[in-house]
Amino acid sequence: MEAFSKELLKETTILITGGGTGLGRAMAERFLQLGAKVAICGRREEVLRSAAEEMTAGCGGEVLAQCCDVRDPEQVRDCVDAVWRYFGSIDVLVNNAAGNFISPTERLSPRAVDAVLGIVLHGTFYMTLEVGKRWIEQKRPGTMLNIATTYASTGSGYVVPSAAAKAGVLALTRSLAVEWAPYGIRQVAIAPGPFPTEGAWSRLSPTPELAEKMLGRVPLGRTGRPQELADLAAFLISDAAAYINGEVITIDGGEWLRGAGQFNNLAEVTKEEWDRLSELTRKGK
Ligand code: HXC
Ligand code: NAP
Repeated sequence: MEAFSKELLKETTILITGGGTGLGRAMAERFLQLGAKVAICGRREEVLRSAAEEMTAGCGGEVLAQCCDVRDPEQVRDCVDAVWRYFGSIDVLVNNAAGNFISPTERLSPRAVDAVLGIVLHGTFYMTLEVGKRWIEQKRPGTMLNIATTYASTGSGYVVPSAAAKAGVLALTRSLAVEWAPYGIRQVAIAPGPFPTEGAWSRLSPTPELAEKMLGRVPLGRTGRPQELADLAAFLISDAAAYINGEVITIDGGEWLRGAGQFNNLAEVTKEEWDRLSELTRKGK
């Protein structure tokens, strides 16, 4: 079923960091189908080039692929320059590039911490600054969509650099929602639960046992479909969401709430056990 008009994002120019793979690519494809012009960036030229070719062939529209390491402010400036020059402007920035892996925190080296913080927090900040300054200078409105995580709000062991960096991204989102709103710049974020992309699963659920455990945590009993996230993103960056500013929308099948509710593990109790528990709990009557 088609949720949106085919022209929802017509004439909208969108830069997606990490747009050559996974969720970034799913968003790029969806935005193209909805009439947008899309630029994708990442570190691997070959990945970007083939993604751009496949997307243009499959969805039509225009895709610009630009090599850029978001940890390097000069590369970020050159990338934004190139996209601006090619399309004439940028209307939406999607900060999606990320780095992450599971590890006991005490095993991390400083370089491992920097690798994740550099991509997620600094990279997002550099891109935000580079695009935001231009919008302000040229008196152009714009929208920034940051891809966070559910544990940006709760914290999580074993992915601590990512949790700290994504919490910073949420703070950036909420802070600029107020500071830059007078310039017509809107900030939104998505907190995805588990979506089995190759990039995430190879680093976070590298065995069938871990992947199974991840699935078991989701009340809806399945992982997310990239297209579901892409549809949410399309809505959030569109004019239909023009009054949403500074919000983070969770899309996780109820996963984080499952972990949060004190009695939620009772989902494991069998019907027979419930009969017995029911008798016990009525005893006080
Ligand atoms: C411990 C590790 C490690 C690991 C790397 N390091 N991987 N330490 N466990 N699995 C250490 C290295 O030993 C090195 O430290 C330092 O980190 C830098 O490693 P490099 O390989 O040189 O880094 P780099 O090439 O910059 O790669 C960055 C990366 C990599 C983050 C390590 O995984 C990457 O490129 N990731 C991009 C894609 C990605 O991560 N996608 C998943 C996003 S999913 P020393 O001290 O030895 O030199 C997500 C949310 C998921 O974010 C939520 C799921 C529900
Ligand atoms: P992914 O495919 O690994 O995406 C990460 C992208 O970031 C890649 O295209 C990668 O390309 C790019 N990237 C990494 N480092 C970069 C750098 N220094 N400069 C520029 N680009 C860089 O993983 P994904 O699952 O689609 O993740 C996308 C987003 O969703 C991330 O923000 C992630 O935190 C978030 N998320 C995912 C899940 C999930 O379950 N999948 C859950 C919660 C949140 P290169 O390697 O070529 O640079």
